[in-house]
Amino acid sequence: MSFQNLLIENKGRIQYIIINRESKLNALNKDTLAELHTALSDAFCNSAVGGIIITGAGQKAFVAGADIAEFAGLDVAGGHALARHGHHSVFDFIENGNKPVVAAVNGFALGGGLELAMACHIRIASGNAKMGLPEVTLGLIPGYGGTQRLTQLVGKGKALEMIMTADMITAEEAHRLGLVNAVVGQEELLPKAEDLLNKILSRAPLAVAAAIKAINAGLHNDQDGYEIEIEEFGNCFGTEDFKEGVLAFLEKRKPAFKGI
Ligand code: COA
Repeated sequence: MSFQNLLIENKGRIQYIIINRESKLNALNKDTLAELHTALSDAFCNSAVGGIIITGAGQKAFVAGADIAEFAGLDVAGGHALARHGHHSVFDFIENGNKPVVAAVNGFALGGGLELAMACHIRIASGNAKMGLPEVTLGLIPGYGGTQRLTQLVGKGKALEMIMTADMITAEEAHRLGLVNAVVGQEELLPKAEDLLNKILSRAPLAVAAAIKAINAGLHNDQDGYEIEIEEFGNCFGTEDFKEGVLAFLEKRKPAFKGI
């Protein structure tokens, strides 16, 4: 499938989803969000795809936010609908995906851009990346999960500071705060993201998916993360990959997981 605002590239079992609106610093307009949903659905269902790397086109921005031009005509109901639809179709959709998603943050990650990165399971940033949630400068608050996920990642005090001041932070500071998992030079960004994802892809896929589910469950008030962990742990014993993993350990060889 071809897209207007995304580039899709495959490298082995990794699928790249590249936000491709460079002239607008890859800002997320309605069409781009819709395409993202389609691309992610396809990737989650495609057995040839093991994991996904999301990045931005060009050297300047990962994503500089939701497209501010599209906010202009919205009323209260429109604002509610925009946020609710975005949560379901893209941001929660990534977080609850059955495959690992890595954000390769290659420049500005602001507003919806940082929210997109935070919805991913892992974030790697290049040294030139700048991150922030500047919505209060527009008379708004983050609407794609930013108030929740930033608080989960960096703690309430720093999240309140970042959101209320609208200040951007550097990649190094984001790393120190735990907002990104690693910082590397610009040329090493994609190799680093690929190395990390390939390591995850060498592990048992159903167990990786179960870990995502159990970790997410603990962050939702309506779910008991411990109960979900017990259930998912038990379910792992019913997989072929569990048998293969144990056998390979006992036979002192590398496991060949099949995701079944
Ligand atoms: N929505 C819509 N368009 C955006 C955008 C956004 N979030 N971010 C950048 N753009 C557009 C600019 O309007 C400009 O378009 P133009 O050339 O047609 O005028 C183009 O991208 C380049 O941006 P520009 O502002 O000229 O680049 P810069 O290097 O001077 O500044 C930023 C870079 C990221 C600091 C600045 O673009 C910015 O503050 N963007 C908005 C960030 C934001 O508030 N995001 C949260 C939205 S909720």
